[in-house]
Amino acid sequence: MRVLVTGGAGFIGSHIVDALCRAGHEPSVVDDLSSGSRSNLPADIPLFEGDVRDADRLAAVFRETRPQLVCHQAAQMSVSRSVRDPRFDADVNLIGLINVLDLSVQGDVERFVFASSGGVLYGDVFEPADEDHPSNPVSPYGISKWGGEKYLEFYCRQHGLTGAAMRYANVYGPRQNPHGEAGVVAIFCRTMLGGGQITINGDGSCIRDYVYVEDVARANLLALTGDLPTGMTPLNVGTAHRTDVNQLAGVLRTLCTAHLQEAGRTVTIPEPAHGPHRAGDLQSSLVSSRRLSELLGWQATVPLNEGLQHTVRWFGEHTEA
Ligand SMILES: NC(=O)c1ccc[n+]([C@@H]2O[C@H](COP(=O)([O-])OP(=O)(O)OC[C@H]3O[C@@H](n4cnc5c(N)ncnc54)[C@H](O)[C@@H]3O)[C@@H](O)[C@H]2O)c1
Repeated sequence: MRVLVTGGAGFIGSHIVDALCRAGHEPSVVDDLSSGSRSNLPADIPLFEGDVRDADRLAAVFRETRPQLVCHQAAQMSVSRSVRDPRFDADVNLIGLINVLDLSVQGDVERFVFASSGGVLYGDVFEPADEDHPSNPVSPYGISKWGGEKYLEFYCRQHGLTGAAMRYANVYGPRQNPHGEAGVVAIFCRTMLGGGQITINGDGSCIRDYVYVEDVARANLLALTGDLPTGMTPLNVGTAHRTDVNQLAGVLRTLCTAHLQEAGRTVTIPEPAHGPHRAGDLQSSLVSSRRLSELLGWQATVPLNEGLQHTVRWFGEHTEA
């Protein structure tokens, strides 16, 4: 089927494009390349450079690509920027979404999948949260993801769209941007492979649920093409496994050391330093993906150690010595 992936030149979006190609679909991408890159995509995938806030540009993309399915990954995803500039956050994450939803309705799109977030909706949870866990977003970014789900729900009810809101846990893997504030695995990999010392915010006891990006891409593929109830279905995408930042850093230090040794470099990666706790960071974030498993047969298939090995290898090949 013809699938438009917004933000498809980014980290998760480009893996969704790969999964769509492998399954025989025809993906196209619209992306403003603010954090994504053409190099994340296979050369033959049509990439339309454009901003989801620009309704005219988006309409031209819809005319040209005539999507049957839409996967909306494009977003402003910096929590701190959303705090500094809530208007910009709402512009991209709500007005941009509404632009894509309007064109999807006009173009008779059958299915709309939206990238949401488990962490920012559920807040601190010490047991894996299911989709009925109360939402209480505190940052403008969280509020725009929550509002985005509500808009999707409205468009589904009003216009007969079928939709899914993918509430991701902490996604990691190859192509993640190591320059942002999120993406701790990417940030640690880049620093360690350069022989540098990472700084852990606080004492490193924060618990996260790390899910490998190819598993997340497969969840999107299933949500786009599998049997879903009518209306809007929220779906958590995570493993429910707890890992604290100290454990994560320890495993990555071992893997990065081994990678550097294989490359003939004898570098001793320093032990992590600890900085102040970052205000607003959750102590614990975990999601249960039982609904995704029951509805669409999804399971996370890549254990953390294996996913981290793939990630270290990728960053090793893409980080200058
Ligand atoms: N990475 C995670 O752990 C995580 C967790 C929860 C939710 N999410 C959500 O998943 C989605 C994808 O995130 P990612 O981690 O791949 O980040 P990313 O930055 O790699 O991808 C976002 C893509 O959207 C594009 N984009 C940004 N603003 C745009 C605009 N105005 N118009 C068009 N394109 C625009 C960027 O260039 C980029 O290619 C986002 O919606 C994000 O909020 C990610």
